[in-house]
Amino acid sequence: MKTIILGSGKGSNAGALLDASSQNLLGSTQIVGVFSDVAESGVLKIADSHNIENDYLRSDSSSAKLTGEDEQLWMDSLSEYNPDLIILAGFMKILQDPFLKKFHNSIINIHPSLLPSFKGLRSIERAFDMGVRITGCTIHWVNSDIDGGKIIAQAPVRIMEGDNLEIVTARVHAAEHMLLPWVVSDLSQGIIPFPK
Ligand code: GAR
Repeated sequence: MKTIILGSGKGSNAGALLDASSQNLLGSTQIVGVFSDVAESGVLKIADSHNIENDYLRSDSSSAKLTGEDEQLWMDSLSEYNPDLIILAGFMKILQDPFLKKFHNSIINIHPSLLPSFKGLRSIERAFDMGVRITGCTIHWVNSDIDGGKIIAQAPVRIMEGDNLEIVTARVHAAEHMLLPWVVSDLSQGIIPFPK
């Protein structure tokens, strides 16, 4: 299963996937490329350290969306790999219809809350501020409904009296690093089916 990772930030989820891949824990998954809209992002450095092809691809930093010529560049660059799966691992650009159609039913996203709660940005912080006692992370199929595609898997994280945001954030990230490799492995083995 040819797999591409897209990220914008630190890249800890990409790192968890690449570590799992090095240990042959991802079934038939081959991570063939890592791309970022942020030139100096950690995600590209992590890919480098695992000797995985990686690149910064241009995008208009004043827009939350990937559109126009930028979107075309991303579609063309990714198409060269003929990917079976595209993983949004901390990728902060909103994908539009042309991209979603081109890679129909093959894009998953990891989100740091128990969807459908706390869609959007700063999800861990908003859950913490709200005082919820259980939050977590979700992996879902990506469609045009932001953070609203069909849920594939979730992992719960408890928030206990006396916890601070830093502790909860670390716990949610640890849950992500466990859940994402597991889901990718299951997708590659057909244990979790791709949508038809
Ligand atoms: C992760 O917590 C991921 O769930 C979140 O960004 C973080 C990226 O961390 N994604 C979103 O908020 C998407 N809306 P990483 O770069 O260390 O993997």
